[in-house]
Amino acid sequence: MKPRLITLFLVVAALGAVAMWLRQDYWVDHMSRMSGQKDLSHVTCFNCHMVSTAKLRWAQPRPHHDAPAGLAVSPDGKIIYIALDDRDQIAAADAVSQKVLRRVKVAGRPFGLALDAAGQKLFVTCRDADRLAILDTQTLKETASIGVGMAPVAVAYCRTSAGERLIVANSMADNISVLSVSPLREIGRPSAGREPFDVTVNPDGTRAFVVNRMAWLASVKTVPAAEVTEIDPVTARTIGRDPLASAHLSESIGIVPSRSWVLNPLVKVRNLVPITQVANGWVMSSGFAVTDTRTCKVIQLPLDEANNYYADPSGMAVAPDGKRAFIASGGSDVVSVVDLDKVSAWLAAASVSTKEEAINDMSLSPEYVIARIPTQRNPRQLLISPDGGTLYVAERLQDSILLVDTKTLTTKGRIMLGDGGLNDPIRRGERVFTTAAYTFQHQFSCRSCHPDGHVDGLSYDFDTSGIGDNLLDNRSLLGVAGTEPFKWNGKNPSLEVQCGPRFAKVLMRTDPIPPKELRDLTTFIKSQPPQRVARRHDGKLTPAQERGKAIFFATKTSAGVEIPHGKRCSSCHRPPLYTVRLSFDVGTGGPFDTPHLLGVANTAPYLHDGRALSLEEIWTLYSTNDTHGVTSYMNKEQLNDLVEFLKTL
Ligand code: HEC
Ligand code: HEC
Ligand code: HEC
Repeated sequence: MKPRLITLFLVVAALGAVAMWLRQDYWVDHMSRMSGQKDLSHVTCFNCHMVSTAKLRWAQPRPHHDAPAGLAVSPDGKIIYIALDDRDQIAAADAVSQKVLRRVKVAGRPFGLALDAAGQKLFVTCRDADRLAILDTQTLKETASIGVGMAPVAVAYCRTSAGERLIVANSMADNISVLSVSPLREIGRPSAGREPFDVTVNPDGTRAFVVNRMAWLASVKTVPAAEVTEIDPVTARTIGRDPLASAHLSESIGIVPSRSWVLNPLVKVRNLVPITQVANGWVMSSGFAVTDTRTCKVIQLPLDEANNYYADPSGMAVAPDGKRAFIASGGSDVVSVVDLDKVSAWLAAASVSTKEEAINDMSLSPEYVIARIPTQRNPRQLLISPDGGTLYVAERLQDSILLVDTKTLTTKGRIMLGDGGLNDPIRRGERVFTTAAYTFQHQFSCRSCHPDGHVDGLSYDFDTSGIGDNLLDNRSLLGVAGTEPFKWNGKNPSLEVQCGPRFAKVLMRTDPIPPKELRDLTTFIKSQPPQRVARRHDGKLTPAQERGKAIFFATKTSAGVEIPHGKRCSSCHRPPLYTVRLSFDVGTGGPFDTPHLLGVANTAPYLHDGRALSLEEIWTLYSTNDTHGVTSYMNKEQLNDLVEFLKTL
């Protein structure tokens, strides 16, 4: 807000205060008319006036860190390329001296990396700029750039019968860009599952496999399933979708050509089971999927042990000889080593039903997990040298790359990128957010349900009575600062309460997070800005979005009938946070806390229990009779326009 406006407002507020003192009834009437609430004990002028996002923690500048994201290695194994997304840089390090040789600027949050066959071109996906950049590996200069779908996070390179191809996972567009390299152009954009996150390709370039992080839901009460999407790199067509039953949060995929397998880590989630069962290991567990690419059969195997879990399996790498796979558990600071001969032997001997139930058998992992390698904080992306001798582990929240000898499974050094950023409370808070150290048997971290601080797209049964009919839709933590109270029931006054005692009671089943760590954790959450939304590059709204905006702020229906104050979208979802932080009954069985709508485009499902799978459904399937705003006058186009506008918030 401009200083002049603030002064003006202060004068008005002061006059208002005097006026209120003189005419209390006027303001009581104003508050109840504007808020539509009978009980005004929780309502203050500041629920609706003088709210500014500029003062919030996420709008302030913050320190940046050398957190490693994607990795690539030159064909001779000598140079390691590291994407430093938080710094807008690419680093090149020497594999032998373990020193960073060079850093170059690449704009737009570089995240995923791949090299061409000759090792001359480095392909970089820029997550915030929706583009793919090409760097010359000699000069590390950017030689080309091409627009792809929203938030590209991973790229794979392959040679096909039709020439060189790049397969790019566009995480927020739910599709895949298939590019030819010369000339550099997009030849197709087939759809993926929800949040495609990593890509791998057959050595002969006949098939690409894309793993999706979130699950599509058929209904909120059905078991979720993410998928592995199969693409033909030549034609850019989708040729298969292999569901991963009740699994999601897969962030990596690897191929084992000698066995015709594709492997991906996963989280087995039991979100429909009451959370009180956490002591029985029923909330979530870690595992990996083995997809036979000839039969498309998928077997899921556990990574955990009965009393010790390896939370947030994230990065995965397969040795070139196909004998071993490595899986990084970001929440547990461990890389598990899986012997694929042993997996193969077990699969050959097990009956069909044993294989189907395998993921639930917590005594199984010793059959094929042959080692657990400890790492520093938050191991994520993994990479294996071309000769198979070295495993590189990106220790994301330590700002380092660990080198492991794949024969002896011992540590052989570290590439230091930064100092770990431990002076920064936001960074310290992120370390708390991503660790499973505080949960019973280390089952999960905050990130297990709030990946990248966002939602996992599921509803959980937090019913402590254990009956199991009390689903609560997950809520994003991006842009949550200033929107207190928290929870759908609006009962938690602050993040300190929400993330401390409440979390300990309902979820952790262990001691609460210590006070200092809790402070850092809430600082981290408050510093998370709302999720980026798809908007035109000049920031202007499209004609459809403009029409939707007019509907959102409408005071009259199309027929000219006045919409009463408490029924206007903007009375309850008032800018700039798009909430007045009060609870209302909008015909959904409430009252419920009015959710802020920042980044709402990407948080499906909707409403407190996740019953609405899309924004449209809020009004087409549920509040159809003007209980949630006045909407019955709208035709299909008007509702579409309204939804288009909501997606820009
Ligand atoms: C539930 C939301 C809400 C609350 C609480 C609220 N207002 Fe308002 N107020 C509005 C809306 C809506 C308007 C209409 C203009 C606008 O949209 O800004 C308004 C307008 C005003 C105006 C402009 C003149 C007028 O009466 O239209 C003043 C002054 C004002 N409010 C002061 C206050 C004061 C002082 C308090 C606390 C005692 C208060 N408001 C509480 C929502 C609210
Ligand atoms: C098992 C999944 C799960 C885990 C683990 C989890 N959350 Fe949540 N979180 C949820 C769900 C579901 C909700 C909505 C619950 C409600 O409103 O009652 C939620 C709501 C929240 C909210 C309120 C947001 C709002 O707008 O009201 C905050 C803050 C939050 N979580 C922080 C955390 C933190 C911090 C951790 C780790 C200490 C964590 N969560 C771990 C599932 C989870
Ligand atoms: C009387 C206050 C009120 C009005 C008016 C209102 N809303 Fe809501 N809105 C709420 C409440 C409360 C919820 C949560 C309901 C639930 O979860 O069951 C909600 C939920 C939503 C959600 C779902 C958000 C999520 O994360 O699940 C969207 C989107 C939304 N409203 C948009 C609108 C639009 C658009 C209008 C106008 C047509 C509107 N609202 C009018 C109070 C209101």
